[in-house]
Amino acid sequence: MTVDAIRMDGKVAIVTGGAGGIGFATGQLMAARGAHVVLADIAVERAKELAATLPDAIGLPLDLGDEHSIEALVEAAVTHFGRLDVLHNNAALLGPEIARNDGDIEQMATDLWDRTYRVNVRGTMIACRAALPHLRASRGNIVNTVSNLALQGHMIQAAYSSSKAAIIQMTRAIAASHGPTGVRCNAVAPGMTMTPALREAFPPTLRKAVEDETLRDQLGDPEDIAEAVAFLASDAARNITGQVLVADGGCASHVPGIAQFRAFFSDNQ
Ligand SMILES: NC(=O)c1ccc[n+]([C@@H]2O[C@H](COP(=O)([O-])OP(=O)(O)OC[C@H]3O[C@@H](n4cnc5c(N)ncnc54)[C@H](O)[C@@H]3O)[C@@H](O)[C@H]2O)c1
Repeated sequence: MTVDAIRMDGKVAIVTGGAGGIGFATGQLMAARGAHVVLADIAVERAKELAATLPDAIGLPLDLGDEHSIEALVEAAVTHFGRLDVLHNNAALLGPEIARNDGDIEQMATDLWDRTYRVNVRGTMIACRAALPHLRASRGNIVNTVSNLALQGHMIQAAYSSSKAAIIQMTRAIAASHGPTGVRCNAVAPGMTMTPALREAFPPTLRKAVEDETLRDQLGDPEDIAEAVAFLASDAARNITGQVLVADGGCASHVPGIAQFRAFFSDNQ
């Protein structure tokens, strides 16, 4: 392996949700490391605008809820750039309406559950299925964005969190099936990450609760998640597959309530 194994010169990467906070930060970083990048998003105009700011990138339409759209995206990316090395499955069904209504199972609307699983789980599966022949040809890899909520219980977002847990198991299944052909599959689990959308919408009291459990002195930025994704996508991670890399500032690494413990011990010194 070369000292530059983290670089992605000549590689072609699809980033779904590429017009969003984490997706664009990842596309930007991969492009800076030499990759040709496809920013794929349901917000296609925004994806195209953002792609125009990168050295060799294009924006393409994607509706992760639509099988044909996903297959067309993979084909269009391969037709344009001639190969595919990385699939970053990063788009998910998000937004204020979902955040408001996705809570406890007892109150769960079946339709919200179905929409979440259609986009997050079924969409990710179809994207992987469409990309795998191309990734086998390039000995490429998949990085799935999951969530800290897939690893720990919470009273919020039962549909979202369980859909992300399903993606973790899909990650391991793909790694196990396709490892021998040179294809890797990993996941990154962000904790709360300060995307523009979240910065605007997340209630300050709840943000403080997460900050209190974070072991850094600040919450993560999209660029922090991009670093984890781009590492796993690069040859520097060639010995890593079937793994979940938690990028949450240490939030989930300790027994909850650490802020109160800190305050207690600093008061009693
Ligand atoms: N920001 C956080 O705190 C956080 C924490 C844990 C996990 N995540 C995960 O990170 C990923 C990126 O989220 P983000 O915070 O950057 O959000 P974001 O809203 O900024 O970006 C999400 C993007 O996905 C696109 N999208 C939504 N539905 C789509 C569909 N059906 N087809 C194609 N594109 C679609 C949106 O248009 C948007 O550009 C998501 O998978 C999210 O679950 C985020």
